[in-house]
Amino acid sequence: MNAEEVVRQALPLVVPTDDERKKAREAEKELRKRLDGTVKSPLEYRFLGSYARDTWLKNNLEIDVFILFPEDVPKEELESTGLEIGKAVVDEYELRYAAHPYVHGRVRGVEVDIVPCYRLKSPKKIKSAVDRTPFHHEWLKGRIKGKENEVRLLKSFLRAAGIYGAEYRIRGFSGYLCELLVVFYGTFIEVIKNAANWTRDTVIDIGRKKIYRKKELECLLVIDPVDERRNVAANLKLDNLARFVVLCRAFIDSPSVDFFVARESKAPSIEAILPELERRVVYAVEFEKPDIVEDNLYPQLERACRKLHEFLNRNGFMPLRSSFFAGKKCYLLFEVGVKEHSPLSRQIGPPFEDKEHIKNFLRKKRKYAVFLENGRFWAYRERKFTVAKEAIEYCIREEYTSMGKNIGENMLRSKILEGVELVYFEDLAFLASFLAIGDGNAT
Ligand code: CTP
Ligand code: MG
Ligand code: MN
Repeated sequence: MNAEEVVRQALPLVVPTDDERKKAREAEKELRKRLDGTVKSPLEYRFLGSYARDTWLKNNLEIDVFILFPEDVPKEELESTGLEIGKAVVDEYELRYAAHPYVHGRVRGVEVDIVPCYRLKSPKKIKSAVDRTPFHHEWLKGRIKGKENEVRLLKSFLRAAGIYGAEYRIRGFSGYLCELLVVFYGTFIEVIKNAANWTRDTVIDIGRKKIYRKKELECLLVIDPVDERRNVAANLKLDNLARFVVLCRAFIDSPSVDFFVARESKAPSIEAILPELERRVVYAVEFEKPDIVEDNLYPQLERACRKLHEFLNRNGFMPLRSSFFAGKKCYLLFEVGVKEHSPLSRQIGPPFEDKEHIKNFLRKKRKYAVFLENGRFWAYRERKFTVAKEAIEYCIREEYTSMGKNIGENMLRSKILEGVELVYFEDLAFLASFLAIGDGNAT
């Protein structure tokens, strides 16, 4: 099959059914009725996001409603009134957090976001990220007409690969970014063909219709047509850019509808994992998950993971790979190349020419004599810890306060699983992928 045929066959997988649309319209009608009775001038409400542009993905209906406040309303009032309105118009709700708290709920069984934002004259003067949204909609709504299903194909292609969404858990492509790419390239297939050649230093200037490379750029830059200071791909992780580019090439080489269907990561058997855990040196730092939103949690886990990785590296344990995971509990995973050191390490001293420093170096009381090697002094030093596991414990004890505002204290009370104890890890598919067993791609 060629790419065009595959796309035709994929359409029913991504386009909402008539039933779903009907359900959506009924919820919309009811929601508008409630909003008309609740939102009073000078406030107004608008339907924005993928529902308003008909670019929502089959089985992923969610209606985004924004409540626009005049610029001079204080932030606190915007927040509290925004929540009040939200709670008043949905059937059941929970609070969620973006730039500020907002209501996520249901109307006639359909998921709804009610997000407050400022009504501004120019997107250059935004007070928070969501204030750009009305401008995004204005910019897109005419341009995306007729290309809605191309957007759906792209979203679905990305979702199947686990890289749809800009939230921290995913760090992939946002819905808005998908729509901009379809406007820029015209069709789903054109996006795929062109993305196959993207590099980490690619710049796509949507507004000026230009694409170029910029030396020393670390990851794709997509300039927001409504605010040129904003990178629409700011949350995209380099490895997810790489995944996408490689996947685009694979699709071009052998197009198939499989690219639109989530590959079920079959949990590998414990028999496959166990001998690897026995043979290799793997640790999982397990601790209580703090009650905070994911977009706040993940950067902290990432930071703590990096700190421990660097510590292991500085102390000669040769970390091979590290990762983090949040499920029922939080985990930091490490595989190291060195499990245990001898009790001694060597400390560098001054070269023999350096009279002053040598005096200090020699004055110190030591258990073992200093020695010369290649014209400089060295001394043996007792290690504070010799086993990688103790190094992890030591680092947490000494540095938990800088690991992350909400996870530090919990880390202090963590349990370190080692080797075969990791069979108690929550997600074996993730673990297998971390260990590079099977064809995994979860990490
Ligand atoms: N938005 C934003 N900043 C964020 C999150 C969202 O400006 N941090 C805006 C985007 O313009 C987006 C809209 O809010 O179009 C709705 O967000 P969301 O529902 O997350 O994305 P959609 O574009 O509606 O895509 P999806 O189909 O996944 O719902
Ligand atoms: Mg949406
Ligand atoms: Mn939303």
